[in-house]
Amino acid sequence: MRAAVFETAGQPLVIRDDVEIIAPRAGEVRVRVHYCGLCHSDYSVVSGSFPFMGPVIVGHEASGVVESVGPGVTRLAPGDPVVLTPLPPCGSCYFCQRGQHSLCVNGIGIATMALPDGNTGLSRGGETLLRGVGLGALAEYVITPANGAIKVDPDVPLDVACVIGCAVQTGVGAVLNTAQVEAGATVLIQGLGGVGLATVQGARIAGAALIVAVDPVASRREAALAMGATHAIDPAAVNLGAEVMALTQNIGVDYAFETAGIAKLIESSLALTRSGGMTVCVGAPPLEDKVTIENVVIFASMEKKLCGCLLGSCNSLREIPRMLALWRAGQLDLEGLITARRPLAEVNEGFADMKAGRGIRTVIAI
Ligand SMILES: NC(=O)c1ccc[n+]([C@@H]2O[C@H](COP(=O)([O-])OP(=O)(O)OC[C@H]3O[C@@H](n4cnc5c(N)ncnc54)[C@H](O)[C@@H]3O)[C@@H](O)[C@H]2O)c1
Ligand SMILES: [Zn+2]
Ligand SMILES: [Zn+2]
Repeated sequence: MRAAVFETAGQPLVIRDDVEIIAPRAGEVRVRVHYCGLCHSDYSVVSGSFPFMGPVIVGHEASGVVESVGPGVTRLAPGDPVVLTPLPPCGSCYFCQRGQHSLCVNGIGIATMALPDGNTGLSRGGETLLRGVGLGALAEYVITPANGAIKVDPDVPLDVACVIGCAVQTGVGAVLNTAQVEAGATVLIQGLGGVGLATVQGARIAGAALIVAVDPVASRREAALAMGATHAIDPAAVNLGAEVMALTQNIGVDYAFETAGIAKLIESSLALTRSGGMTVCVGAPPLEDKVTIENVVIFASMEKKLCGCLLGSCNSLREIPRMLALWRAGQLDLEGLITARRPLAEVNEGFADMKAGRGIRTVIAI
């Protein structure tokens, strides 16, 4: 099959026609990928921020049509349109039993870049290719456990719905599931890419009263205001801390989301979170980065909560239909997140746009 292959950090992806993918085994399906959004987590592999040995097929925000199903798969059939998730929950492990599906021990392909049994199902001339960021969807086909492909109604536009797979599950889920923001809350969001703008929309859906959106890129601040932010701040132009404190009567925000992937912004988010409030780490900084909590006794006495977030703490089987329902109800703007569409041959131009802050999400047609 045809696929965009990452071979060397810092080098462009290479389009290959000689990639092999296995037929679906028991419990698996093979999906013909139609569209894949580009996420910064893919770019972090391509740029070398997340170091990986050997070739990888990245892309984990995708949609397509089921091509074949393995033995025992009853929920899906060839021809079904699906949105894919990079984190298919098994439904039965320690974490799934506790309703923490995003921590599923069998859904850790985001980290292992393999299927649950350790195989990737991908090769080229006998050499294994990694199944990047839980899917490997910048390719004509993906192989996934059946729970990784969520059937959608035939009228759902797959070129739009693909962004649910990562950006929307993550951003909206960070608000509704991870933080469980309540109506009337005050919220700060630092970083307004696809993930941050979905977080803004999640805060609006949750009924947050104050939604402060921060990004140095003017067009992204404008998008945030259109999607429900009450205030948009350019951190390069003003003192963010002073602005946020003025907007919250010197209390700080109830919830702060770091959605840029910059460790220093986790520290500033924590500083601007009120006593008893929550700071949510959504962004994925380079592997070696650290966060420092100064005066930890003050942190402890203020009862602040510092919280991780993987794919918006989502159970994708529930979340993808829920996001589509919100979209149908006019409460979730998916189209507004997509500012470019390109063929697979232009995948490197798509990543260049992301790096330069041009547009928001690029969707690749495959
Ligand atoms: N936790 C998860 O499950 C999960 C899922 C998807 C993506 N991510 C991570 O989330 C982050 C965002 O992903 P994305 O695809 O939206 O990326 P993106 O590159 O589209 O957006 C990042 C944004 O941060 C902005 N930014 C840069 N410096 C800033 C600053 N000082 N203050 C405020 N904003 C600043 C950029 O201008 C850009 O708009 C990445 O680190 C990505 O790897 C995490
Ligand atoms: Zn599980
Ligand atoms: Zn992603």
